[in-house]
Amino acid sequence: MMPIGPLMIEHRLIEKMITLMDEEIAKMKKHRKANPLFIETAVDFIRMYADRTHHGKEEDILFRDLEKKDLSPNHENIMDELVEEHIWARNTVGKLVDAKQQYVKGNVNVVDDIIELMSELTEFYPKHIEKEDKRFFIPVMKYFTQEEQDAMLDEFWEFDKTLIHEKYQQVVSNLQEKSK
Ligand SMILES: [Fe+2]
Ligand SMILES: [Fe+2]
Repeated sequence: MMPIGPLMIEHRLIEKMITLMDEEIAKMKKHRKANPLFIETAVDFIRMYADRTHHGKEEDILFRDLEKKDLSPNHENIMDELVEEHIWARNTVGKLVDAKQQYVKGNVNVVDDIIELMSELTEFYPKHIEKEDKRFFIPVMKYFTQEEQDAMLDEFWEFDKTLIHEKYQQVVSNLQEKSK
């Protein structure tokens, strides 16, 4: 398998979550109510899976190795855009968390902000994924030898292995913080 194989498989799961978020947006618009539990689950998915696990492999391994190569100006530009887009997604999720907290505290007017932020995310991800799948991942594989691609795939698996531990260490330390 090429190293972009797991990244593309991960895109398919992200798309499923985006569909669920779109359904949730429709419910929020209809009932003028937010479901904090759904938002927490979607935020956890985006932060831990779409960002830490998926963007993590893109940025910390694939893009890091591409930076050592003599990229065409077009590929250089797309990679810069992708990094910027990851930052935008991180910030937008942060804003969604803030809005959800306001909502939980009783400020029900922020439901419009929640709808807006979730809609921005569900519009963003399909475009970002399409750019990677259709215009970046396959063409940039040509910069790597077969050995380099195999080594990258191995590094991806190693990267993934650490994350379940990181996730639950975080769960325990968050609970410890709360119980202080
Ligand atoms: Fe990405
Ligand atoms: Fe991606």
